[in-house]
Amino acid sequence: MPDAKSKSLFNRKNPLLAKRISSRLLTEGCDAKDTWHLEISLLGSGLEFTPGDSLAVLPKNDPKLVEEIISSLGFSGEEIVPTPNKEETLLRKAITENYVITTPDKKLLKAINEKAGPTEWQDLMEPDRKIELNNFLWGRSVIDLLKAHPEVKFQPTEFVALLKKLNVRLYSVASSLASKPNEVHLTVAVVEYESFGRIRQGVCSSWLTERIDDDTPIPCFITPGKGFRLPNPDDETPIIMCGPGTGIAPFRAFLQERQATNAQGNAWLFFGEIHEDTCHFYKDEWESYLADGTLNKLTTAWSRDQEEKIYIQHKMLEHGAEFWKWIEQGAIFYVCGDAQRMAPDVDHALHQIIAKHGGKSEEEAVAYVKEMLSEKRYRRDVY
Ligand SMILES: Cc1cc2nc3c(=O)[nH]c(=O)nc-3n(C[C@H](O)[C@H](O)[C@H](O)COP(=O)(O)OP(=O)(O)OC[C@H]3O[C@@H](n4cnc5c(N)ncnc54)[C@H](O)[C@@H]3O)c2cc1C
Ligand SMILES: NC(=O)c1ccc[n+]([C@@H]2O[C@H](COP(=O)([O-])OP(=O)(O)OC[C@H]3O[C@@H](n4cnc5c(N)ncnc54)[C@H](OP(=O)(O)O)[C@@H]3O)[C@@H](O)[C@H]2O)c1
Repeated sequence: MPDAKSKSLFNRKNPLLAKRISSRLLTEGCDAKDTWHLEISLLGSGLEFTPGDSLAVLPKNDPKLVEEIISSLGFSGEEIVPTPNKEETLLRKAITENYVITTPDKKLLKAINEKAGPTEWQDLMEPDRKIELNNFLWGRSVIDLLKAHPEVKFQPTEFVALLKKLNVRLYSVASSLASKPNEVHLTVAVVEYESFGRIRQGVCSSWLTERIDDDTPIPCFITPGKGFRLPNPDDETPIIMCGPGTGIAPFRAFLQERQATNAQGNAWLFFGEIHEDTCHFYKDEWESYLADGTLNKLTTAWSRDQEEKIYIQHKMLEHGAEFWKWIEQGAIFYVCGDAQRMAPDVDHALHQIIAKHGGKSEEEAVAYVKEMLSEKRYRRDVY
């Protein structure tokens, strides 16, 4: 297992510049989303990780958006500006690599408001109207604010001082060094949505999957997975893994690790996506794990293959009696993926199973889950 020293070889200030080995669309034929499997080389780097960790990636902004901002402000891009780390660089490079040019900082709103005279967002800037201001900003980007007031002019240095620092994005490692030495794999869903007449893309998910090639350096380092860890291989504790969508990533790493270390104890995987025929990520791998006993049970939920939505928590409830049996045998329950909708619904289903199959009142089920949490038998890595 890698020690803290080898993990801290690389960090935010000194990232590894890794290169992609390959990329493969996992959602071929699905109109609703693009989710990619990426393989990145660590050869010769010394970077190590444990399943349950995440890879922090420092992305670059979309060059088309960079050029649109430069031209809408009347700049050339060759102006010298400070970076957030107080170094000097060209404006084009700074707003490609160092600053957020999607989500606007409130400082930019304020500055445009002051220069333009009252803007349409003037009243929303009162301290008691934070919710309305956030509603106004939802789906609006720096370019929308600049285009709303083309008469407003900035000095280049003044402009970058109104932007936030571009930060890393985390991706759960989807492979194990025990099985794939010198590589780290990721499962990345491209964030894409339309707002105010424009198609917008998430900075890092689109950079990693659509804008780089296999020669592009990817600045990255490992962030440890705070307790999202497997039991020791000789420990017979069963594990239940619940990972819809990209939430599957750490469980692919878990299963690779368990196969490579001949782990004891049963394993049950819940996976959910939109359609079985176009979104059954890593299907062949699960089949081979089922065949060799690395995985004992796979339960899937395809949300849009029928009229009513079927999600993993529906499948947990359907298999409630068996689920409860595993929990009573001391299973660790891991959940990874969407924090806003999925994780609370799965949590609710867990309570329902404990109440129904464990014969407990609502309060007793709540206390049981609390105990699972304190004993680290219920672990979540949600985003
Ligand atoms: C521990 C951890 C592990 C993670 N693991 C994975 C993983 O394995 N795979 C994975 O794909 N992701 C994972 N993520 C999420 C990942 O870190 C990024 O948040 C994700 O890829 C989006 O980043 P981005 O730069 O592409 O998008 P950003 O540029 O950050 O854009 C996302 C933002 O766009 C806005 N937005 C999104 N949709 C809409 C909409 N419909 N309307 C208006 N605005 C909208 C929201 O403000 C949202 O915050 C993980 C996150 C954490 C914290
Ligand atoms: N805006 C974007 O373009 C975009 C793109 C990728 C990811 N994301 C965000 O990134 C996170 C992870 O996305 P992802 O691609 O990994 O998968 P996801 O959006 O979480 O979807 C995976 C599966 O979970 C289902 N699901 C939706 N609501 C659920 C719930 N309450 N309980 C259980 N399952 C539920 C989805 O069904 P249905 O979709 O059929 O409801 C789908 O079948 C989410 O927060 C998502 O919003 C956004």
